[in-house]
Amino acid sequence: MGYRIGVILGDGIGPEIVREARKALDAVCAKYGHHFEYEELLLGGASIDVHGVPLTEETVAAAKGCDAVLMGSIGGDAKTSPWYQLPPERRPEAGLLGIRKALNLFANLRPAYLYDELRAACPLRDDISAAGFDMLIMRELTGGLYFGARKTEEVDGVCVATDTLSYSETEIRRIAKRAFDIAMKRRKKVCSVDKANVLDSSRLWRQVVEEVAKDYPEVALSHMYVDNCAMQLVMNPAQFDVILTENMFGDILSDEASMVTGSIGMLSSASLNETKFGLYEPSHGSAPDIAGQDKANPIATILSAAMLLRYSLDLDEEANALEAAVRQILKEGYRTGDIMSEGCTQVGTREMGDLIAARIME
Ligand code: IPM
Ligand code: MG
Repeated sequence: MGYRIGVILGDGIGPEIVREARKALDAVCAKYGHHFEYEELLLGGASIDVHGVPLTEETVAAAKGCDAVLMGSIGGDAKTSPWYQLPPERRPEAGLLGIRKALNLFANLRPAYLYDELRAACPLRDDISAAGFDMLIMRELTGGLYFGARKTEEVDGVCVATDTLSYSETEIRRIAKRAFDIAMKRRKKVCSVDKANVLDSSRLWRQVVEEVAKDYPEVALSHMYVDNCAMQLVMNPAQFDVILTENMFGDILSDEASMVTGSIGMLSSASLNETKFGLYEPSHGSAPDIAGQDKANPIATILSAAMLLRYSLDLDEEANALEAAVRQILKEGYRTGDIMSEGCTQVGTREMGDLIAARIME
C-alpha cells in the first residue's frame, strides 16, 4: 500500500539518524511491497536558518497531509549556537512544542525495555538488572508547565519568573484512557505518577484517573509520588508496566528510564492525537557534540519507525520484523559506542543502519 510519510531531519545528529531509519523503512517497503512517499519538513534550528522561525504554518499543514511524521531531533548547543541568542519563543525547542500543540499530540508513548543483550550496558546492579524490565511511559504532552502561562517581571525591584502548572479534567481523562487502553494489551498494570501530597493539579489528576479506572476493572491501578518513582526506577524497575504521568514528570522520568536500558540512544517514542496520525521521534536530543561524526546510535529512531508502522499504519507484522532485526543485530554483538561492551563489535551510525536494514530483508 502507499503511504505519505513526513520527515523532519532536524538538527545535530538528526539528519544521520533519520537517514538510517529511512533505510529500515525502505527495507520494510521492499520486503512487504509497500510504497512510502517521503516529504521533508523543516522544524527547529533547520527552520530558523531558512525562515527565521522554528515552526511555520507550512510545516504544520504539510504534516497534517501525511499519514505520519518521522523526526530526528532538534536543537543545538545552547552556549555556542546563534539560535540561542533568539528570544525563547523563537528557539528550536519552541518549534517542537509548537508542532506537538498544533497537531494535538497529547499522548506520548515512551517504551523502556531492557534487552538481554544489553545487560552489560545497564548501569544498575546485576541483581536488579537480572530481573529485566519492560515498561511504557505514557506522558501527557500538550499540557502542564510546558504550556501554562509564563512571565518574567520585576516586582518591587526584584526579578520574578513564573510558570503555571494547570490541568483540566478533560486533559487528564483522555491521557488516562490511553494509558488504560494500552495496559489492556500489556500486563494490565497502570502506575499513575503524581505529586498529590503537594500539588492541586496532582490531586485532580489522581481523582480523574480513579474515575477512568472504573471502566477498566481488569487493570490494576496504583499511585506513586514522582520522587518515589524516580527512586523505584533504579531500585526495582521490573515492577512497572504502564507509567502514566503529566508532561514535566514524564520528561524527567523518561530520561531516567531510558538510561537504565543502557543508553538514551535506545529509547523510541510516539506522540499521538485522537486520530491515527502520529509524530515519531527518539526520546533523546540532538547531541551536537557528536553530530556528523558517524557516532550516534540510530536505534531509538529506527525503533520509532517501528512504532510508526504499528500505530499510524497498522502494519504490525512489519513493525515486528523491524524490531526483530534490531534484536538480531544486538544478538550478533554489533554496538554503537554508547552501548559498547567487551567482546562486541563497535560500528558507526551508518553501519548499524545498514546491518539492521539487511536483517529486515532476510
Ligand atoms: C523531550 C525533550 C523535549 C521536551 C525538549 C527538547 C523540549 O526533552 O522530548 O523529552 O522537554 O519535551
Ligand atoms: Mg526530554
